[in-house]
Amino acid sequence: MNLYERIPNNVNLSEDKKLQRALEKWLPNYLDWWNEMGPDGFQQKDVYLRTAISVEPDGWANFDFVKMPDYRWGIFLKPAEPDAKIGFGDNYGQPVYQEVPGEFRNALRRIIVTQGDTEPASVEQQRELGKTCPSLYDLRNLFQVNVEEGRHLWAMVYLLQRYFGRDGRDEADALLERRSGNPDKPRILEAFNQPCDDWLNFFCFTMFTDRDGKYQLSALAESGFEPLARTCQFMLTEEAHHMFVGDTGINRTVKRTAQLMNQGDVRELGGIPLDIIQRYINFWFSYSLDLFGGEISSNSADFFAAGLKGRYKEQEQYDDHLAADQIFDMKVVEDNQMKDSEVPLRNALNEVLRGEYVKDCEKGLARWNKSLADEGRSERLFLPNNRFHRHVGEYAGHYFDVEGNLISKEEFERRSAEWLPSVEDREYVRSLMHPVTEPGKIANWIAPPATGIKGKPFEFEYVRL
Ligand SMILES: [Fe+2]
Ligand SMILES: [Fe+2]
Repeated sequence: MNLYERIPNNVNLSEDKKLQRALEKWLPNYLDWWNEMGPDGFQQKDVYLRTAISVEPDGWANFDFVKMPDYRWGIFLKPAEPDAKIGFGDNYGQPVYQEVPGEFRNALRRIIVTQGDTEPASVEQQRELGKTCPSLYDLRNLFQVNVEEGRHLWAMVYLLQRYFGRDGRDEADALLERRSGNPDKPRILEAFNQPCDDWLNFFCFTMFTDRDGKYQLSALAESGFEPLARTCQFMLTEEAHHMFVGDTGINRTVKRTAQLMNQGDVRELGGIPLDIIQRYINFWFSYSLDLFGGEISSNSADFFAAGLKGRYKEQEQYDDHLAADQIFDMKVVEDNQMKDSEVPLRNALNEVLRGEYVKDCEKGLARWNKSLADEGRSERLFLPNNRFHRHVGEYAGHYFDVEGNLISKEEFERRSAEWLPSVEDREYVRSLMHPVTEPGKIANWIAPPATGIKGKPFEFEYVRL
């Protein structure tokens, strides 16, 4: 079969000679990267995976057994709307950009590279997790997330190669050269350099960090650069499952912990104590908040003005798509005190998007707390304040407790083991991570899922080992 027929796509790849030449060079490097940095130890196993082979409702979720290196990574854009217009900013109502507008070229490339860099990074972070899977169902979900993050890399590489010429091709190569957590060539964003070496980390990552992805993609899905908008719109269909994996993974862990609390000492019974789960939430939530960028940002204003990056559900949620003269109230630190500050709305759009994200995360917390209540427990999990443990933006360089009160560095350091996973916490969680690979069996620290995948029961052999 011809290479371009093997790559499912709706971008007319078999006719596009320039794109073919770019992909021909990149594809072998991608496969090398996948074999070197993709899931370790399972590359030759048959996995029950969904593959997108077209953008039609019956085409984007085809389930079958596939070996991961044979996964058909494809290039898909949501079909175009006729006569699409830029939906916000200074060029509101003008026709969408079909090619990269010269004056926004650098900004757009930076947006695409930054998004693209997160996709292979997460595969690298999750590389070793298969070896300690709590069940075959979970193992399959991990691999589904991994192959789709690989496809998301393709999606961004397509944009770079198709629309950015030579420097786009160089950026596409560089996406395969950086490595998560490598001090010499790290991934661009810090959350993507954090180790993700146990399953509680994985669930927190897919709950909180993939969810950042959802909001970034949603804002880019509004973009006036139409190929980017349509690419992100399709990626969002896949992203939903990643967040489902995280949300339900934490929920099942919480449920099991609650059951063990009802029986006695959670540690003695081999579960994950609730306070450790809370510290993992604090860690991943705060790192994921950083991904939205500074609270006050001239980039966010420029991207919005240019029509490149909109707000979450820009068309559905807002009437005023110019956002020109409005003011956003936020708290800033001045002279070591909290002060109210008024910021032009366009400069506060990172914070606006972050606010949407936080609302979404809170729904997860409500579900987990319902599981605690259902098991008869009165304890509750919570999200720390947005200012807690931040490394980017207005609150970076200052210290806050989980309620958002400004505290001294000394107090933060003294109490940090209360709020963030300690080395002992991580070692304890790791000590529970033993592989369970018999169909229908599950590790002791987590509850089984309510249902299986694609109508199959939990007992189904999702990965043939
Ligand atoms: Fe992704
Ligand atoms: Fe994802």
